[in-house]
Amino acid sequence: MTSKAHGGDLVNRQLVGTAREQALKKAASLSSISISDWAISDLELIGIGGFSPLTGFLGQKDYSSVLQTSRLSDGTVWSVPITLSVTEKEADRYQIGDHIALKGEDGIIYGTLELTEKYSYDKVLEAEKIYGTTEKAHAGVEKLYTRGKIYLAGPIILLNRPDHSEFAEFHLDPLETRQLFKDLGWKTIVGFQTRNPVHRAHEYIQKAALEVVDGLLLNPLVGETKSDDISAAVRMESYQVILKHYYPQDRARLAIYPAAMRYAGPKEAVLHAIVRKNYGCTHFIVGRDHAGVGDYYGTYEAQEFISQFEDELGIQIFKFEHSFYCNSCENMATAKTCPHDAEHHVHLSGTKVRELLRNGEKPPKQFSRPEVADVLIKGLRETVISN
Ligand code: ADX
Repeated sequence: MTSKAHGGDLVNRQLVGTAREQALKKAASLSSISISDWAISDLELIGIGGFSPLTGFLGQKDYSSVLQTSRLSDGTVWSVPITLSVTEKEADRYQIGDHIALKGEDGIIYGTLELTEKYSYDKVLEAEKIYGTTEKAHAGVEKLYTRGKIYLAGPIILLNRPDHSEFAEFHLDPLETRQLFKDLGWKTIVGFQTRNPVHRAHEYIQKAALEVVDGLLLNPLVGETKSDDISAAVRMESYQVILKHYYPQDRARLAIYPAAMRYAGPKEAVLHAIVRKNYGCTHFIVGRDHAGVGDYYGTYEAQEFISQFEDELGIQIFKFEHSFYCNSCENMATAKTCPHDAEHHVHLSGTKVRELLRNGEKPPKQFSRPEVADVLIKGLRETVISN
């Protein structure tokens, strides 16, 4: 094993083979609730151990503890509540001890929940504590406000996986990435979270890390994101292209992180680090405004927040300053390594980059590798056509 899972052993709540078939048959006779794609991705991550040590959706004691202290009630660091919401009407249908089938909107039973608790919660308090804002304009808060009023808690069993066939080659569970690192002989592995294409700044900090560790796990989030983020399919193509042209083949691997994006900034940075530890990484990158959205978080707020847990996280955090290309240095750099003023630096906003790409124009090569820009331009054009 590469490294310990968070809180001890890697959780496995997934059934396979005949045990799964029998459980599915039984689940078909249970009363069911329809769960969102977001909840399905949480269910999957609990099932495969990505969210170790969680074995199910949080009960009230753990929930309150996570909100107030960023820890489970036993003291284990855990920064974002993983919960299953339903309406009051749905909650009324179930008694403690019931087994409930969890169905997707597609009618597929993804798993079962053994109900140990149901409780109401304060959405505004959760928004304030987890997202640091109660504004609906925040993508994560908006989602939270549309959820049912009651949380159902209890251990889960994962019976079916959401369809990742599009990315089959890059679909690796924590057990598999751990084995992969072993096979590759990597002892130190840096995990990289992203919901964006890999631009030069990302490449720079990944490679800075690669100077001191054995390998890179490029681990893009491919679950639900907000509508103006670039689709996972287009991004996955762009990752393959950049890895092929600009990374040594034996030092980087691509695998999907099948989670929904919460945009919870500092709190989500801690979650992201814990999950990558579960995938077997020994190091994790937290750069500028990690998991941020709009102006809700300070540039280094995620780095500051995660620092308080560093001694007990069990994964080393690489913190990088805001990186850019400097025309005078003719290099990628940060304020730590470049003496020139901002006018020498190439800065482009996400909005500007998207505008260029939508117009079929490549951002400067100091910002984005041309091969990546080509994929993004093509992908965005196809997205527009299919809409
Ligand atoms: S997110 O998942 O954290 O929202 P994003 O793709 O924006 O995705 O960033 C991925 C990682 O790269 C994060 O750790 C982020 O802090 C870091 N990062 C992004 N852009 C820069 C930059 N220009 N300089 C330094 N770090 C950056």
